[in-house]
Amino acid sequence: MPGTSAGVAAAERLRLPFKEERTTPRLESSPAWLAVTARSDAILTLSHISLAFGGVAALTDVSLSVRRGEICSVIGPNGAGKSSLINVVSGLYKPDHGSIRLDGQMFGQMRPDRLAHLGVARTFQNLALFGGLSVPDNVSAGLTHTRRAGVLEQAFFLPRSRREDREIGERVDAMLSFLDLGPFRDRLVSTLPYGLQKRVELARALVAEPKLLLLDEPMAGMTATEKQEMAAFVRSARQRYGITIILIEHDIGIVMALSDHVAVLDYGRKISDGTPDEVRSDPAVIRAYIGSTEDEDLV
Ligand SMILES: Nc1ncnc2c1ncn2[C@@H]1O[C@H](COP(=O)(O)OP(=O)(O)O)[C@@H](O)[C@H]1O
Ligand SMILES: [Mg+2]
Repeated sequence: MPGTSAGVAAAERLRLPFKEERTTPRLESSPAWLAVTARSDAILTLSHISLAFGGVAALTDVSLSVRRGEICSVIGPNGAGKSSLINVVSGLYKPDHGSIRLDGQMFGQMRPDRLAHLGVARTFQNLALFGGLSVPDNVSAGLTHTRRAGVLEQAFFLPRSRREDREIGERVDAMLSFLDLGPFRDRLVSTLPYGLQKRVELARALVAEPKLLLLDEPMAGMTATEKQEMAAFVRSARQRYGITIILIEHDIGIVMALSDHVAVLDYGRKISDGTPDEVRSDPAVIRAYIGSTEDEDLV
């Protein structure tokens, strides 16, 4: 079907964007990006992951390999298992079967706080911020695991604690400036518009410069302009820090323009996996979406 008029008609029906609709080039040229593309080994490998809640299979025999430095999007209809996949990788859910290999280390489930030390950070589908705290206080929470000073040292402002405070302050300031959040630094997070709150959550995940960043619908609920801004920040975060990103996003135009790799879940199973072009023309994807979406967007 791909390439045939039937395939094209189906893709149009699914509102899959075609190549010329890409607005921004994906060719990156920074030294960090060139370095990561030179070592394009897998940073994360999921092997035969299954997870069920009661009788509901959230994930069934999902295997996925994510290469270092890529932006890998996971798409699929609501309930397909996308958040479960990220929850398994970030240690929140323990899979019933299967294994996870992160940067050479194999595990079934890792405690989320241990994963922070291994360089994994995430955002949540539903905002998980401290609304009553300022923007910098929320962002510095992303560096808590890096503190060495004990509680007493912090309580009495002993030298190591003061030095850490200063270092954390500098890293937070740099992140606020990178994500254009400087003008909002004195605001309580709860007073910010939703799109900016999502950006604060990205700042908190990014401030520790993780090697693997998991973003669960970072653009959900945003206006088209806010989505484009967020996509640009995600792209430049990858470029500046040379990190690997797994992204869950419903806006298929953004997914196709931003991703190097797309995996498609449907009813907890992976039905397609490849480059955006490969996935876009995969008959299994077209079939699944024609079956599940008559009048809605693709995912
Ligand atoms: N904590 C949970 N308890 C019970 N069922 C869950 C839980 N998390 C996910 N599920 C179920 O697993 C399936 C996949 O959910 P989810 O991973 O959230 O999908 P998606 O993010 O693709 O919308 C759904 O049927 C959902 O109801
Ligand atoms: Mg979800």
